[in-house]
Amino acid sequence: MADETKLNAFMEKMLGDLGGAFSVALVRIGDRLGLYRALRDHGPLTIEGLAEATAIAPRYAREWLSQQAASGYLAYHPADRTFELPPEQAMVFAEPDSPVYLQGAFDLAAAMVENQAPVEAAFRSGGGVGWGDQAQCLFCAVGRFFRPAYHNQLLSSWLPSLDGVTARLEGGAKVADIGCGHGFSTIMMAKAYPASHFSGFDFHEGSIEQACRHAAEHGVVGNTEFAVAGADDFPGRDYELVTFFDCLHDMGDPVGAAAHVRQALRPDGTWMVVEPQAGDRLQDNLGPIGRMSYAGSTMVCVPTSLAQPVGLALGAQAGFGRLREVIGAGGFGRVRKAAETPFNMVIEAKP
Ligand SMILES: C[S@@+](CC[C@H](N)C(=O)[O-])C[C@H]1O[C@@H](n2cnc3c(N)ncnc32)[C@H](O)[C@@H]1O
Repeated sequence: MADETKLNAFMEKMLGDLGGAFSVALVRIGDRLGLYRALRDHGPLTIEGLAEATAIAPRYAREWLSQQAASGYLAYHPADRTFELPPEQAMVFAEPDSPVYLQGAFDLAAAMVENQAPVEAAFRSGGGVGWGDQAQCLFCAVGRFFRPAYHNQLLSSWLPSLDGVTARLEGGAKVADIGCGHGFSTIMMAKAYPASHFSGFDFHEGSIEQACRHAAEHGVVGNTEFAVAGADDFPGRDYELVTFFDCLHDMGDPVGAAAHVRQALRPDGTWMVVEPQAGDRLQDNLGPIGRMSYAGSTMVCVPTSLAQPVGLALGAQAGFGRLREVIGAGGFGRVRKAAETPFNMVIEAKP
């Protein structure tokens, strides 16, 4: 028989979960229509004030503001009927460079819902869903989701955690960024190390086109190029650094990719592999981050890998032990965790 106290506690949790799920579209509307930005820039606003500042209909402003206040995303001040975006919430909703900016996660949530039909069919067939066949908003969502971590950690702590790598980048090194997607990581490194040369490769043509546009916008075309290529056949040799940002586990044949990196690197080169943070055992990953990561893995990472030859499907929560095996099988003798955050681990692999 159900225990009423436990049931009530579980219902409370479920109401919170569903409140979050129901909020996805509203948060994205707030982002697209500049509602969070207006609240950040103007300070507390009434319904009419927000409607006027953002040119939206007051009736919708009222309902949206009420839902956001009920969510704890905005503070409501009954005395003057204003709504405020507190500084902590502004970091999450309105400041793209903040380390806790989460708009990309809401975009990912929408992409996962859009992906339901093909992934549901794949559950039955056991097949994959190709990266290019995923929901179209996924590609931008992924870039946007990962960018805050790269912006805040890549140059300041992840690259310096690798043995001797920043000195080589300053002196002028040859670098390949594999599975580069829209090229955020490539462009950040290229801007910081103008003496080095960066080649971004990804097997998804649409992402490479977008990466080229980003590079032009950021003025890094002189030391950067992008091209369509797979992880197991990208061109070039004698790289001093090869980087994989959040993509090794998406690949069908990560061991083949590791072997290809091994022969493309100089003997004294470094392979940097950034992967989602995860423990080695399922029971280590049963918290809020594991929950989100397993969802993304089910809807995106595993189907992507299963759509490729070999289809190893490591999953986004493979853990360091399993990743070390895969990297080692590609011919890397020295593999260590160089840095970690609550969301990511940075692995350094050397031949
Ligand atoms: C989760 S996204 C990460 C993108 C980018 N590195 C970032 O951090 O924003 C995974 C990327 O891996 C790419 N990818 C997956 N399998 C690949 C393969 N076998 N060869 C090259 N790229 C691959 C996808 O096209 C996608 O851009």
